[in-house]
Amino acid sequence: MDVLSKPITLTFQHRVVFTRQAFALENPALLEVLSGRVLVMVDDGVVAGCPALPEAVAGWMAGQGERVTLVGGRVLVLPGGESCKNDWGQVEAIWAEINRVGLDRHSTVLAIGGGAFLDLVGFAAATAHRGIRLVRMPTTTLSQGDGGVGVKNGVNYFSKKNWIGTFAVPWAVVNDSALLDGLPAREKRAGLIEGVKVALLRDAGFFAAIEASADALAALEPAAVEMVVRRSAEQHLEHIAGGGDPFELGSARPLDFGHWVAHKIEPSSGYRINHGEAVAIGMAVDLVYARRLGLLAAADSERILRLIERIGFAVHDAELERVDERGGRVVLRGLEEFREHLGGELTITLVTGIGRRVEVHEMSAETVREAMDELRSRQAVPGVMPMPSADRIPVTHPARPAP
Ligand SMILES: NC(=O)c1ccc[n+]([C@@H]2O[C@H](COP(=O)([O-])OP(=O)(O)OC[C@H]3O[C@@H](n4cnc5c(N)ncnc54)[C@H](O)[C@@H]3O)[C@@H](O)[C@H]2O)c1
Ligand SMILES: [Zn+2]
Repeated sequence: MDVLSKPITLTFQHRVVFTRQAFALENPALLEVLSGRVLVMVDDGVVAGCPALPEAVAGWMAGQGERVTLVGGRVLVLPGGESCKNDWGQVEAIWAEINRVGLDRHSTVLAIGGGAFLDLVGFAAATAHRGIRLVRMPTTTLSQGDGGVGVKNGVNYFSKKNWIGTFAVPWAVVNDSALLDGLPAREKRAGLIEGVKVALLRDAGFFAAIEASADALAALEPAAVEMVVRRSAEQHLEHIAGGGDPFELGSARPLDFGHWVAHKIEPSSGYRINHGEAVAIGMAVDLVYARRLGLLAAADSERILRLIERIGFAVHDAELERVDERGGRVVLRGLEEFREHLGGELTITLVTGIGRRVEVHEMSAETVREAMDELRSRQAVPGVMPMPSADRIPVTHPARPAP
């Protein structure tokens, strides 16, 4: 046998620019990351909240002279939200546009939208010509603090989330805090929980800062929200760039703390519970679980649960009690699905103190059930926003992905 083996080493620069009013003519922030031919695509949900945005983008481009050219002479407004990831036709439509205007690998796609829209456009850009530069401008607290600063993209297929996708470091990410101004309150709150999550995993100082701003965060005061989004983005970036596994080749995924429950109850509730709300509940389950096993001190567990509640999240929902035809809790199937999603051995990250974590490879279903029961009987603190309950909100399931 004769084996040739050579390492291939590549270095990527993962850049996140923080700014406000990126499309104000006098703001130079975008010139750091944009040049040449740029194809601009905007999430229609963002435009509904801010109808002047496409014109502002086109105006900024026109004001840059030779440095930047708006390809096609207009800004494209396309469907956003999770359903855009369920429609393969949207991927083809973006490819068709990239082909029509003749973008090459030295041109840029600028995507402005929520995390779902960025995942869709990012996937289409990463696969056209084997990868066109992508500049992402996330427009939700969740995507500015978490998903939008990641190195993944993807669309849903076979009715499974992110079944098709790539790892691709974006050319740059631009977080414009002004884009968050028009977000509905529930969407604005959602991203705060990923800040709490990453603070618990890596940064006790950030956790204390969130505690100190809890009242302002409960009221969704812009400066406090911006602080959490910014530090959350920073910590996610640090973890991706410095954590040793940016392309997730191993089985551990600490940033998915609390997510095995979240990934199950979001869809099983028909998306009545949004991602941030589901993560708050998932984290609460895993915190009480860790405390019951003696891995987390009772005082720490209580301090964290209080903070989650003070900033407006519920820590329990009846969805945790949904049972299947054989009487088993549906949410527990989330453990096996999570293992499949990560690949390899089941690996769950648990928090053992503020800023400390451990990985475990099995979870006791009995103790998980006890943790959920304990959370149900917990007295909610005043100020927790009631979530829409299943009997008041019509459950609409998203369109099924194309076969
Ligand atoms: N690639 C990654 O690493 C990664 C990580 C985490 C999450 N994600 C993905 O992100 C998606 C969730 O993203 P999200 O939480 O941003 O939700 P979203 O993209 O579904 O957006 C929620 C809704 O808000 C609208 N919207 C977006 N910005 C707005 C604004 N500024 N004003 C008014 N409306 C606005 C959207 O049109 C949509 O209808 C999921 O598909 C998830 O899988 C990806
Ligand atoms: Zn998340």
